[in-house]
Order: sequence, then C-alpha cells, then structure tokens
Amino acid sequence: MSLATTMIVLFLQIITCFLFTTTASSPHGFTIDLIQRRSNSSSSRLSKNQLQGASPYADTLYDYSIYLMKLQVGTPPFEIVAEIDTGSDIIWTQCMPCPNCYSQFAPIFDPSKSSTFREQRCNGNSCHYEIIYADKTYSKGILATETVTIPSTSGEPFVMAETKIGCGLDNTNLQYSGFASSSSGIVGLNMGPLSLISQMDLPYPGLISYCFSGQGTSKINFGTNAIVAGDGTVAADMFIKKDNPFYYLNLDAVSVEDNLIATLGTPFHAEDGNIFIDSGTTLTYFPMSYCNLVREAVEQVVTAVKVPDMGSDNLLCYYSDTIDIFPVITMHFSGGADLVLDKYNMYLETITGGIFCLAIGCNDPSMPAVFGNRAQNNFLVGYDPSSNVISFSPTNCSALWS
Ligand SMILES: *[C@@H]1O[C@H](CO)[C@@H](O)[C@H](O)[C@H]1NC(C)=O
Ligand SMILES: *[C@@H]1O[C@H](CO)[C@@H](O)[C@H](O)[C@H]1NC(C)=O
Repeated sequence: MSLATTMIVLFLQIITCFLFTTTASSPHGFTIDLIQRRSNSSSSRLSKNQLQGASPYADTLYDYSIYLMKLQVGTPPFEIVAEIDTGSDIIWTQCMPCPNCYSQFAPIFDPSKSSTFREQRCNGNSCHYEIIYADKTYSKGILATETVTIPSTSGEPFVMAETKIGCGLDNTNLQYSGFASSSSGIVGLNMGPLSLISQMDLPYPGLISYCFSGQGTSKINFGTNAIVAGDGTVAADMFIKKDNPFYYLNLDAVSVEDNLIATLGTPFHAEDGNIFIDSGTTLTYFPMSYCNLVREAVEQVVTAVKVPDMGSDNLLCYYSDTIDIFPVITMHFSGGADLVLDKYNMYLETITGGIFCLAIGCNDPSMPAVFGNRAQNNFLVGYDPSSNVISFSPTNCSALWS
C-alpha cells in the first residue's frame, strides 16, 4: 500500500466514429430463442435460501453506449451516477476542486462537505491513482476512504463505511473520446481489490446481475437477488485466471444464420477462456483473423452496398433502411450457452439513419477479445464466481422493473 501511484490499464467503452441511435425500439420483436442446458433449475449452485441477508441493488440508466448506476457517497449522502464497468476495478467520481474535469450534468462531489471523507496516506503524502482505459480515457486523482451507500431489499440502506474510492481531479476532457456528461465517474466491478463487489463484504462475493436495454431504467443487483435462474436461463462457464481480475467466457463458435464458424483451428481457439464479458465496453471485439471470418460470413448474406466506417474500429457497415436484411448471429459459449442474439444486439443504426454496422470490432491480436454490452441487451445477466458460471436469461429488460 506504499505505492504512491497505481497505474492500471483496463478496458472500458470504446465508441466508434458514427453516432449510433439511442432510440432502442426493437421493431422486429424478440427473436431470442435459447437452447437450455438445464431446464428450470438455477444454473448457480447457490440457492437463494443459502444466501443470508439483504440484497443490495441500485437503479441503472442508459445513455448512448453506456450504462450507469446511482449510488451515494459521503455523509450526508450525496448522489452520484457512475458507469457500470465489470471490466475495471476502481470506483472513482469527479471530485472538487476538480482542476481538470469534464463537464457533467449533475453537481460534482465536494469532499469538504462530507464528514466521512478521509484521504489515504502513502508515506506521509496523498496516495495518487491513475487509471487509463482501453479507449485512452483516463482518471487521475487521490485515493480516499469514504462511506458508500446503495439501497437494499431489506428497506434499510446498504452502507459501506470506509470504502476505498478515487477522488478524480483530472479526468479526460476530450470532446469526442471523453466521458459522458451524464456520468460522474465509474464503478469498477471486476474482481480486483478496489472494486465495489470486492469491498462489499457479502457472504458470496461477486454475485452481480443486470439487465440492459436501450430504453428505460433498470436495476443492478448484488448478493441474493443476483442469482439468475428460471425458464430459458442458460449458463456459460466462467473462467477465472490467475492474477487476472476479468470474467472470462470461452467462445467456441459464432453462427451467422446456419453458417457455423468454429474457433477450432484458429488462433482464437481456447478451452480456458478466450473472451471476457464487460458491461463497460459497447461493441464486441474478436481478434482480427477470426473476426474477418465472421465478417465474411455476414458479407455472404448481405447484398446491400457497403459504406466505409470512418471510426477507429473500421466496422462493417452498409446502407440500409431496415435491419431485416441482416443475418441472425448466435454465439456459442462453452458450458452450453448458445445465445441467439437479437438483430438489435448485433447491428447498430447510425443516428441519422440509413446505415447499419455490425457491432463486432476486429482487434489487434495483442488485445483481448471482449463480449460487449450491446450484445448483452435484453438478457438478465448473472455473474456467479462462486459457481464459475455466467447465466443469461432472455428478458425484456425495459419491462422488468417498470
Ligand atoms: C418447469 O417448471 C414448470 C413450472 O414451474 C413445470 O410445469 C415443469 O414441469 C418444469 N419442467 C421441468 C423439466 O422440471
Ligand atoms: C418491452 O417492454 C416495454 C415496456 O413495457 C414495451 O414497451 C416493449 O414493447 C416491450 N418489448 C417487446 C419486444 O416486447
């Protein structure tokens, strides 16, 4: 703990050059049809009865390509809205005096008004943190302990005294690649020591569920209520790697309609996790060679005219007034989860309309593969590190808690 600066490079949202529509209505109904690994039963080995105590939760919001949760910091409690990121660990919020902050809609947290804010000391000095995300956005500031409060199912607030948080004083302020104004900061949820779940002190750490959609509000659950079970639920094996705080899945194949493209025989093939699931990244990313195989399969089906993507992701895009012409994509994960994705999950329409892009980016092979948040839309997604599964239950997320 004597390191004056922690330097972490992690993976957050990666937004492409096109602005994609926020009107998330799926005009084509719900085409998700999952093969079940275990009918009816919970994929988790934990049953709700085993889990004691109240279940913390928070309200979530959608803004363009990101998902946000509400929480309170300080005494008296001050509400912040921060991005939900299972691909990083530190919790930070923009923090007064904020010499180099991006403009945010909500008031900025002022630690001088909180009686529980304590700067962490490193060798007699402030402890600095610096986090740089995959899209090169960053936050720098000082580490502190502070009370964090979220609601719980008992009706009593779930109070986390002396939670380590980052007081963000210098946060990327670039017009196009900065943080969203709707967001006060980021809530890291991976397995790293500074993440919200690592600091929650629940009997089974790491149980998380969320349900994302491009409209309305939803909830993120922790503990008891985060077990995802019931009809239609499928489970993918979760792989936890040594000294690696990400939640890995193993992608065996992708189907473009009936055309199955196995990872076997490609450099992407693995049996112990080759892609991590991330709530904080919008698109899905595959390594270049495998990615090109999937794109070629899409190109074989789509006859519309291609349009170059000017963004850094160089997506496969077409002129089209309708999403109907695009093939259905199914992702086959080890453990028996074959996720038949809605077209909304896999094709993004530009904000001005008339162009759709495949929501799969091709990564340099040195970069990890990521299963992004758009692909997870309209699934209730449950993380259960104690059973090594990630469960997916097809759900109309905007209707779930409304
Ligand atoms: C699944 O649950 C439903 C309703 O609870 C029940 O009618 C059905 O028999 C169950 N199926 C299996 C395979 O257990
Ligand atoms: C999902 O629920 C919302 C809100 O209840 C509703 O407006 C929408 O039509 C539903 N979508 C589908 C595909 O059923």
